[in-house]
Amino acid sequence: MIIAVDGPLASGKGTIAKALARHFGLPHLDTGSLYRATAVAVIDAAIDPADEAAAAAAARALDVTAIDETRIRTADAGAMASRVAALPAVRAALYELQRDFAEQAGGAILDGRDIGTVICPDAGVKLYVTANAETRADRRWRELTAKGDPISYETVLAQTRERDARDTERADAPMRPADDATLLDTSSLSIDAAIAAAIQIVENAR
Ligand code: C5P
Repeated sequence: MIIAVDGPLASGKGTIAKALARHFGLPHLDTGSLYRATAVAVIDAAIDPADEAAAAAAARALDVTAIDETRIRTADAGAMASRVAALPAVRAALYELQRDFAEQAGGAILDGRDIGTVICPDAGVKLYVTANAETRADRRWRELTAKGDPISYETVLAQTRERDARDTERADAPMRPADDATLLDTSSLSIDAAIAAAIQIVENAR
């Protein structure tokens, strides 16, 4: 069974994907971490994000066993991730890795923006997790301030809208729910309630 979990920044998709992986005993790939790790490599090597060939080379050179979880979770890495993710050559460079993960025997859970539409269009279950921009910005702001980042809520809201726009408006694999995806709006749900709803959706689809 392949479970595709897509949705925007801070919708809860990552938390939900992890919980589903635990519940159903499936391996999980957070595909956003691949774009974030590419972004960190691009920043470190001072690559111009307009240089598509150089950014794609950085994506191909990624050592996925050595991703620095702390560095890729910063707001700067996230912002740069959405810029490099708009480059078709970068997406192509990361495609096989995601496909191979999805094809492993026994199934897998992948979360991202284009899993149900591009990476695993035949996934047995497709979830599109969403929430309004204000709620998502508030969650993200709380996370960042808890880590000691002095960023304001207004800045986080502006960044959230900017990232949504870049992800939905790009030509290659834009963020959108697959036609056969089940929508899960977590705006007014607790984490536990959102996870329970997601488990129910998977159970119903099996
Ligand atoms: O999910 P996360 O916020 O970690 O993703 C960072 C960025 O990576 C997203 O804003 C998006 O531009 C890109 N991404 C993507 N396709 C995916 C996963 C992430 O374009 N499957």
